[in-house]
Amino acid sequence: MMRHFLDLAPAGPDGLRAILDEAHRRKRLRAGWPKGQVDADAPLAGHVLGMIFEKPSTRTRFSFDMAIRQLGGSSIVSSAGEMQLGRGETIADTARVLSRMVDALMLRTSSHAKLDQLAEFATIPVINGLTDLTHPCQVLADIMTFEERAGRPVEGSTWGYVGDGNNMTNSLIEAASLLKFDLRVGVPHGMDPDAGIMATACARGGCIGLYHTPEEAMVGADVVVTDTWVSMGQKDSEAKMAACRPFQVNDALMARANRGAIFLHCLPAHRGDEVTDSVMDGPQSAIWDEAENRLHVQKAILLWCLDKIG
Ligand code: CP
Ligand code: NVA
Repeated sequence: MMRHFLDLAPAGPDGLRAILDEAHRRKRLRAGWPKGQVDADAPLAGHVLGMIFEKPSTRTRFSFDMAIRQLGGSSIVSSAGEMQLGRGETIADTARVLSRMVDALMLRTSSHAKLDQLAEFATIPVINGLTDLTHPCQVLADIMTFEERAGRPVEGSTWGYVGDGNNMTNSLIEAASLLKFDLRVGVPHGMDPDAGIMATACARGGCIGLYHTPEEAMVGADVVVTDTWVSMGQKDSEAKMAACRPFQVNDALMARANRGAIFLHCLPAHRGDEVTDSVMDGPQSAIWDEAENRLHVQKAILLWCLDKIG
């Protein structure tokens, strides 16, 4: 079975645990090394990762590129608009061609269906670098960051997400149900996360609460998470911003979470909207570790996809 990483569920709890443990292990092993130095075992020497971006990216682009380099491989990065994809060549034909040239593909796109199609026609692993529906790589980096800070596995912890119900929320919901942590989601009316993902997670036995006030999401939270109110490709509207405003993560909201709770944000942040400077730059913020952990977790995802772990 080809190991695509399109979402968290297909890897299952054991696959996700294997990825997280490998990420922690490799990060520890190379502490203090120059960033461009290849890991001692160079497990993906000779391998090439192709990356296609239909949307902007800072973290995903740099972290995947550094990930494959540290594993001993190399990358080719392209925006979809610079490829024949942008002139109408089909996803299926693109998948067939690139499968002959590189060892794994990462795609960032709006349409989750496009990602599924790439995987259907590729004969190499395909990785989800964000769609409008989910952002699984980011959520694994978030979990890694919690485990590092807390010094314990994520299982049994409580997370509070506030803001727009979006791709981050959907992947958090999936993660909570697979790795057995409690998730309390606080979103404005009309901005609920994906109903299908929520239903599947609940059927799996996930403990996920959906609320329409920010305060309810903070009850017992060990982790406070938010994301931009307007995702890439979405229309900015005054009405949406106004509805989201009470869901801002500020010092008063943080005070409702557990003492010692950490703050996470996948970034980019809109300081002064979904989060204040005082929280972003305050003592509970773990956002820079979280950004760095994209690199470590994605190394482990690449190794899992290429059957080197798990
Ligand atoms: N968090 C994240 O995916 O960032 P980029 O959009 O910069 O890749
Ligand atoms: N929800 C955001 C995440 C960015 C990393 C977006 O899709 O734009």
